[in-house]
Amino acid sequence: MRRSPCPTLVTTLALGTALLAGCSATATPGGGSTPAGSPTWSPTATVTGSASGSPTASGSAGATASASGPASTAAPSATSSARPTDTRTRAQRNEAFTVNGVPVISKKYPINADYRRSSVTQPYGLTKQTQAALTAMTAAANRDGVRMLVRSGYRSYALQKQILDRKIIEYGSEEMARRYNAAPGRSEHQTGLAVDLWDGVTWGVGVRNTKVGRWLWRHAWEYGFILRYPDGKEAITGYAFEPWHYRYVGKTVAKAFGPRSNLTLEEHLGLA
Ligand code: DAL
Ligand code: ZN
Repeated sequence: MRRSPCPTLVTTLALGTALLAGCSATATPGGGSTPAGSPTWSPTATVTGSASGSPTASGSAGATASASGPASTAAPSATSSARPTDTRTRAQRNEAFTVNGVPVISKKYPINADYRRSSVTQPYGLTKQTQAALTAMTAAANRDGVRMLVRSGYRSYALQKQILDRKIIEYGSEEMARRYNAAPGRSEHQTGLAVDLWDGVTWGVGVRNTKVGRWLWRHAWEYGFILRYPDGKEAITGYAFEPWHYRYVGKTVAKAFGPRSNLTLEEHLGLA
């Protein structure tokens, strides 16, 4: 699907926030814009999952754990063959379910409204590591002649609710809206570890065939990002194909995904 660029979208990554509210005339997949905000938080430590096999270890999660050392009161078991389990109580969901240092946020593993990002940067509200990786990735894309824009970075719990509510109305189908839009507490955007990227023109599944979409699919892993909702993996991730949504996991973890990968985080962490 091809759209005219909204006036506010000429803003480049280097120049500032891409504010998109109200730009779509019809229902489009994905959320809205992302005012940054919220206080910096130092991770206290709770690793609530344990994993078998595949995950690479060594603090490479690119999230709460890696900023200040592994956040671990209950280290993942390297020998167990059991599927990692989320042992958090409802009240403990102000921290993410974490498997081998990798926070997992999904329909199955929610966080609550009190979740605090490990750090906060401007203009997109991403964590420091995510923003640094994004800056490096954007520069590399530019060198390859690919102009990449941020459509959405951090989104608060409240904003996520607004987006889903609006999308349900736009789609005229709650079921359809939920294939592309997380309920509050179920969105990676709330963690500052996820970013929606595009060229400022083409949105929707068509992003896959844009220069940005193609470049990301090939190169994002080199910067520690993974395609979080690959094509054909909705039964595993809970979301339809989103060629624009990239999740920062750190280079060590992303290396296991590599270029043009349809592997899901759930599969990688033994959660599928
Ligand atoms: N579009 C993804 C699933 C989100 O809303 O977080
Ligand atoms: Zn997204």
